[in-house]
Amino acid sequence: MSLIVAIDGPAGSGKGTITKQVGEKLGLINIDTGATFRCVALNMIQDGIQINQENRIKAMIDKIHIDMKENGRVFLNGEEVTKRIRENDVNNFVSPVSVIKIVRDKLLDIQREIAQGKNVIIEGRDIGTVVFPNADVKIYLDASQEERAKRRVKQNQEKGITTSYEEVLKNIIDRDKRDSTREIAPLKQAEDAIYIDSTNMTIEEVVNKIVGIIKERGVNQK
Ligand code: DC
Repeated sequence: MSLIVAIDGPAGSGKGTITKQVGEKLGLINIDTGATFRCVALNMIQDGIQINQENRIKAMIDKIHIDMKENGRVFLNGEEVTKRIRENDVNNFVSPVSVIKIVRDKLLDIQREIAQGKNVIIEGRDIGTVVFPNADVKIYLDASQEERAKRRVKQNQEKGITTSYEEVLKNIIDRDKRDSTREIAPLKQAEDAIYIDSTNMTIEEVVNKIVGIIKERGVNQK
């Protein structure tokens, strides 16, 4: 039997870090669905495909191959793109790409396939609502826009990328708006998800809280 833990929430809510740590503590496989959208955006950049070129997008998506391996390594058509998909051109292109219906349909299949028969912790925007509506545990992780912008600037600094707080905050506000108002699978809390506001919490506090919730739901019995 497989166990599915769904973690949804907006950009910069700490989902990535927290999902990884909870997964390590409980021995769950970590699936980052945002990375699958980033792969499609990168493939379009590489092939010079524009947002409105539906036929070219369809042809590309029909033969795309996305793989996720240990330690969060991501492969696009056989080539490692773990770092490449976090660069600015992909950051700016991925949100409009993620509203394209044929892209979402195909990625839905890919995401379900990757999780098939495994014990997973899977993060995204629509995992508890669309991808795995029957997930065993659903968490909606949130934080204020200002706090999320601060975290992103710090994260970028650590990676040696200089970005201004204003620029990052604007990007977060724009992305939130686009992600939560799009027609297909918008970012929203599932009715049966547990809401966690991490604005004033440390990573460790959030991780421990989620581990506690999963244990309470009887993960160990599976
Ligand atoms: O979590 P992230 O920043 O890597 O996500 C990149 C983009 O992909 C983000 O703009 C929203 C989109 N996304 C989505 O629409 N559905 C998901 N399940 C995951 C990400």
